[in-house]
Parts: sequence; C-alpha cells; structure tokens
Amino acid sequence: MTQQEFAPPVGEWYYPSEDIVNNAHVPDYEALYREAMADVESFWARRADSLEWYQRWDSVLDSSNAPFFKWFVGGKTNIALNALDRHVKTWRRNKLALIWEGEPGDRRTYSYWKLYREVNKFSNVLKSLGVRKGDRVTIYMGRIPELVMAMLACAKIGAVHSVVYGGFSEQALADRIEDAQSRVIITTDGAWLRGNIVRLKDVVDEAVRRSPVVESVIVVKRTGHEVKMEQGRDYWFHDLVALPIASPICETEVMDAEDPLFILYTSGTTGKPKGILHTHGGYSVYTSTTLQWVFDLKDDDRWWCAADPGWITGHSYIVYSPLILGATSFLYEGAPNFPYPNRWWRMVEEYGITILYTAPTAIRGLMRFGDAWPNRHDLSSLRLLGSVGEPINPEAWRWFHKVIGKERCPIMDTWWQTETGGFMITPMPSVGLKPGSATRPFPGIDVDVVDEHGQSVAAGVDGNLVIKTPWPGMLRTIYGDPERFVAQYWTAYKAQGWYLTGDSARKDEDGYIWIIGRNDDVIKVSGYRLGTAEVESGLVSHPAVAESAVIGVPDEVRGNVIYAYCILRAGFQGNDTLRDQLKEHIRHEVGPIAVPSKIEFVDVLPKTRSGKIMRRVLRARAMGQPEGDLSTLEE
Ligand code: WT7
Repeated sequence: MTQQEFAPPVGEWYYPSEDIVNNAHVPDYEALYREAMADVESFWARRADSLEWYQRWDSVLDSSNAPFFKWFVGGKTNIALNALDRHVKTWRRNKLALIWEGEPGDRRTYSYWKLYREVNKFSNVLKSLGVRKGDRVTIYMGRIPELVMAMLACAKIGAVHSVVYGGFSEQALADRIEDAQSRVIITTDGAWLRGNIVRLKDVVDEAVRRSPVVESVIVVKRTGHEVKMEQGRDYWFHDLVALPIASPICETEVMDAEDPLFILYTSGTTGKPKGILHTHGGYSVYTSTTLQWVFDLKDDDRWWCAADPGWITGHSYIVYSPLILGATSFLYEGAPNFPYPNRWWRMVEEYGITILYTAPTAIRGLMRFGDAWPNRHDLSSLRLLGSVGEPINPEAWRWFHKVIGKERCPIMDTWWQTETGGFMITPMPSVGLKPGSATRPFPGIDVDVVDEHGQSVAAGVDGNLVIKTPWPGMLRTIYGDPERFVAQYWTAYKAQGWYLTGDSARKDEDGYIWIIGRNDDVIKVSGYRLGTAEVESGLVSHPAVAESAVIGVPDEVRGNVIYAYCILRAGFQGNDTLRDQLKEHIRHEVGPIAVPSKIEFVDVLPKTRSGKIMRRVLRARAMGQPEGDLSTLEE
C-alpha cells in the first residue's frame, strides 16, 4: 500500500450513536485517559483488583532492572484461576463459554462447567506424560476446541505453551520446537481447510525427525484419515483421556505473577524467530481490561474474534481474555468463503454474533465477492466491529462499516503487537473515528511519534512509533535470548528508556495516530508477520539457489505479497519448472503463507558496500518507482 492511500481523509469523521456511548463501559475516553495517566500504577492496581488472586501483590511495578520490568511482584495467581475456576463457582457455570463450528458443518458447545472439566482432564493427561511446571509444550493444531483446551491445560499445570500456527511447515516447526526444547507436542491428525485435509501430523513427524528433543506426541483425532502412529512416542488423545488418570478434577498450580505463561514465536529482522514471552499476572490484567473496554464486552454478547488461536490475537482475544471476562466466544474452523462467500455472514446471523473482530485482509477478501452475499443475511445482531493486523484502507473500512455494520456499528481499529500482549492504540466506543486511523492510545499507555533523536515530530510528519512507559501486558523477554530483547526493543532510545515498536507512524492535528507500516525487514502477508530472512533462508536451502532477496509488494487483498529475487548456482536454469519447484520448496520448508507470488532470476542483487541487500531498491524497481539515493550502492 502506498503512503498516500493512508493520508488522513480530511474531515471524514464517524461518531458512535449516543445510545452506544451512554451504555458503554467507558462513556468518556478522555476523562479515563487523564485519570489513568495521573497515577498509572494505582490505575493498574485497581484493574488487577477486579481479578482473583491467591495472594495479592506487594508492589505493582518493579523497574529496578529495566527493561526487565516486573508487574504485581509477589502476587500469586494462575490465568486459569480467572479464566475457569472462579466462574464455575458462580451462575456462569452454566453459561456458554465456547460455541464452535467445524468447516464441514459439525458443531459443539461448551458451558464454563464443561470446559472446566475438559481442561482438567487434559491437564491430567499432560501430567501423566510427565509434563511439569515450567516445561515447554509445543501445540500445532487447527482451529478446534481442543486447541483452546490444550493451551488452558498447560496454563493450569504451570507448563509454558508454544503454539505454532498450522500454516507453518516442517523446518519452521522444528526450529520452534528446538528453541523451546519441548519434549511434548500436541497436534491433530489433520485440519479442514476449503474442503481439503491439511495433514498436520505428517508435518509433525518430519519436524520431530529433525528435533530429537521430542519424547511424546499427543494426537487429537479431527479429520479421521489414516496417520502413522509411532509406538512409544505417539498417543491418541482419546485413548489417554479414557484412562482413569484423566480425572475431571485437577488442582490449579499456584504461580507467581511473573511466571511464564507462554512463548509465541514471531518474525524479526534476522532469520531466527523470536520467542516472545508473556506471564500469568500482568497479561491477565492487561488483556481482560483492554477487551472489556474496547469491545465493551457484556454478559449477553456473542463475541467472535475471527483470528487463529495460533497468533497473539487468538491467544489474547479468543482464549484468555474472553474467558477471564466470562464471555461467550464463537470459534470457526475453516475458510471464510467455504463453501460459498456467505459462510461468515450465515454464521453471524445464525449464532447472533454481536461483535466481530477481524483483519483488513479478510475484509478485503470478502469485499471482493460483492454486497449480495452479506445482503442475503440478517446482520442486525452486530453492534461493534473490529480490525487488526495492518493498516485498514479507508475503502475497506467504509465497506465494512456500511455493508456489514449498516452504518450502526463503530469499528475498533486496534494497533498492537505480539510483544504488547494486548491493544495499545485503539478507539473505544466513545471515540470519534477516522477510517484508517487506530486513533488514540489506551488509558495507561504513553505513545509518541519521534525522530531518530527522540524529538516528537510535528503533525503530518513520519517518525518512529515508541512507547514511553511500561504496561502490564508487555513481553518480558525473548525466550533464551535476553540480549536480543534489549538490542531489539530497548537500544534505539536507550537514554530515554523507550520501547521501539519497529513501526513508522504519523500523528495528525487532532493527535490521532496513523500507522504507516513496519520499518524493519518484516513483511505483513495477509496480516501475518514474516521476516525477509526466513523466506530467504528457505530459498537458499534449495540446491539451485546461491543467494536470494525477498521484498513485500502491495497487494489489493493480501496487503502485501512476496517477490523473490534469486541468483542461481552454476549449472541451474532459471525457468518455470524451477520456479514451481522453489514455490513448492518454500511451502514445505517455511509454510504456505511464505510462498512468493513472483520469483525472478537475476545475476546480481543491489547491495551496499558493506554487503547489505538494498531491498528498498528492489521494491522501487518492482513498483516502477524512482530508486532514490543510490550513493551507498556497490558498483
Ligand atoms: C504489527 C504487529 C497484534 C495482532 C496481530 C499482529 C501491524 C497490527 C495494526 C493496525 C496498523 C497494525 C504493525 C505491528 N499492525 N495492528 N490496527 N493498524 N498496523 O501482531 O504479528 O505481532 O504484528 O502489525 O505493523 O507492528 P504481529
């Protein structure tokens, strides 16, 4: 997307109706923001007090070892205490926690009581395989209720989950297993997608072959096709859960507020994915507060966060925070347009979804099929909409607002990151909206757009988006690599002690923030973060490729697509057969989301004299734009 497309449309404002504002949890954003900033620690302490603790904290924030901040120090909790245990002691025991629809059309529902018992059984299964507090468990599954249960079961017994999105392949999975040193993997035989079976267990077999650390693989039966089970290593979940050991009663492990809850891998500047680490205490407080206030969640809502639980959006806003709030969530397994482009709209109508939170890439994808598909359905249950993952083009925003929300539903365009744990810059139902802007910071969050010296830039000028003070949902470190954590996020503005987001942004005259995009080597494809280095290493691991460079090029539906430039080894011919082989290779090694839409064979790559690939030059060439300053280009 070009920058001009995101220039603030002058004077285009949308205001929520009085009814929405007056009934919202937060009817006055400005007042709440001021109140929070006046004393940030007591603000978060009040929020933490709305949750249950085994033992209250001694101090709210410990900055003595910054940037290794600690929140709610001395507090004892477990996210499962707030997400499940406390609800089964109240009327919510009989409330629906989860409604699920599989792609083939099968359905399941779970009350809080039922989910609680299933999670307890799952926890006991994990214990029976020797999983203990602090152990890492890798989860690689499709969007089925057992994925939610597997995560909660790990949390309950104090194990640290590492969910790897089902769109990643062998090597990516193996790298993540290796980095986390997971001895146990939870997977499924397969997942349904567009009427086909994605053979997840086969991918796990290959990844485990490459990572000898794995001792046990738990396989949940979903698609029912034939899979290879290795004796002594692989177990069917339905066999384990039928054993007497899998009782529906399980003590919740008492955790320190700062004990790790999960690792989630995300792409950064170098090839190796970063294991972003979140903890039990601060993350519970932050995700539940942000969801309650931004999406105004109430007991009678039917909440649908249409992301994948394998990404941070799903961790925070499908699994953990809706359960902490005692909400009813909807989860759907498959593709939005299967078997027809009305699949989502049929489900909104049928399940009476009141809040739909999705991504620009999905909105653009569904918009392409025209208005007739959504117009066949009664979407009047909807009251709020949301977007996340990349800047939403004003055109897609207007379509979502008009055709889906019937001009009644405000759109919450939430800016945040895997690292931030929850929403950071976002409207609330009481904030005036401008299509394409994530609007204003969440209460308690201090953000700014600054130049390289740390000076705030004037309205309308591009700069680096920074976060100036710590917040409870922040990442605590990069798993196993604290130096990289410091170097990546806390070094650019070390003197000031600010967190570097890696995004460039602009403020307008009203103080609204407009995200422009990443300024590191990260490409957002369909809202998913991919490192150029990950795709490049994948290409170079093919025997024909000597060197490669990849760039992101704007695409109408997917936000960006990948173009790859390859220098071949002697003896290889750059032709369509090789192109297809390379695409297949990437699909296998990195995953379907990383497959380049264009591969060009070249003799040289533009590089600086120090040997850094100038992706900016490739991008300009690909888009037919001027190549800019070439003074550092090697001859
Ligand atoms: C990057 C973080 C946070 C959940 C999903 C993505 C981009 C995210 C927005 C938005 C403009 C956005 C940023 C950010 N981004 N939301 N509403 N408007 N850009 O998490 O994979 O960690 O990616 O996504 O560039 O840095 P993630």
